[in-house]
Amino acid sequence: MTQSKSRVKKKDLLEDESIIEEIDYELEDIEGLGRVTAEKLRRTGIFSPRDLAAASVQEVAEAIGSEERAKSIISNAQKLVMRGKLFITAKEYYEQRLRVKRISTGCNALDELLEGGIETQAITEFIGEFGAGKTQICHQLSVMVQLPEDEGGLEGKAAYIDTEGTFRPERVVQIIKHRFPDKTPESFLDNIIYARAYNSDHQMLILNELKKRIESENIKLVVVDSLVSHFRAEYPGRENLAPRQQKLNRHVHQLLRMAAVYDLAVVVTNQVIAAPDVFFGNPLRPAGGNVVAHGCTYRIWLKKGKEGKRIARIIDSPKHAEREVVFYISEAGIVDL
Ligand code: GTP
Ligand code: MG
Repeated sequence: MTQSKSRVKKKDLLEDESIIEEIDYELEDIEGLGRVTAEKLRRTGIFSPRDLAAASVQEVAEAIGSEERAKSIISNAQKLVMRGKLFITAKEYYEQRLRVKRISTGCNALDELLEGGIETQAITEFIGEFGAGKTQICHQLSVMVQLPEDEGGLEGKAAYIDTEGTFRPERVVQIIKHRFPDKTPESFLDNIIYARAYNSDHQMLILNELKKRIESENIKLVVVDSLVSHFRAEYPGRENLAPRQQKLNRHVHQLLRMAAVYDLAVVVTNQVIAAPDVFFGNPLRPAGGNVVAHGCTYRIWLKKGKEGKRIARIIDSPKHAEREVVFYISEAGIVDL
């Protein structure tokens, strides 16, 4: 959208509050923010007033070199995006929540556990030991998101950030052939954009690059498989814990912001580690500590059962009851019995 064209449109629409939210503002529309600063922000992955409104002062200060200025432009961005509104009523919030969309997992039991599927505007984390089915679920969701809404999808593309090199397009083809024999697998593969992340910096860079394509490519699902492994490998031991967690925190918040700003679903996987200090009860816990625990909206723990059975349990959710369901992995992907 060109500047002049967007200005005219904004002026015409200013009276209608509901439409204002839909307007595509640009960074240059923010008071006190010129082209040079906008460029600096874009280089760090902040592309829109909505991005800036949700950014931290520290992050913006790093990009533009002044904390004072960062505070002021963030505040101006918030004024533009939220029209200065700090509070909304619970009813307004409820109406916002009703706009959250869901992607079916393609498995009734898991959908039931998640009350309909994977939500947009949230991070859903699948935790579990090796072979628990985390990567299989990611493959399947990359297919499901592409289906029309009445078939459980969002008619959008998937972005797959692979940190372990375990994404297999041929597995996607197999799932499609078994589930949707009348559809062409190639067209589904075209709608999954894939990036292999080689280290944690690369992983964060990919996310920034991805932002530029979300709207133009209609990406509705972002997968990170797995979220923490590079961070753990690169910052071993207690002495590196603080810088690691700080960096991981920034990554998780980037994901959360992406989910909220672009109304898309983020799915991450996470390993379990053995806690050395637990003598009673379950010594296993998810990697990534509090940063991941607090950053992810929904956490699902997957366990291997007997005879190929998989058990999924919601362990941390603001609204779901803590309970378990059973699913299986087959040629058709994640399935019910
Ligand atoms: P890590 O990445 O190692 O931590 O594990 P993960 O949780 O990502 O495991 P993943 O999703 O890769 O699941 C692997 C399991 O899926 C294995 O136990 C395989 O037996 C099973 N699996 C994969 N493909 C098929 C298939 O085509 N048919 C069947 N029946 N099982 C499959
Ligand atoms: Mg895996």
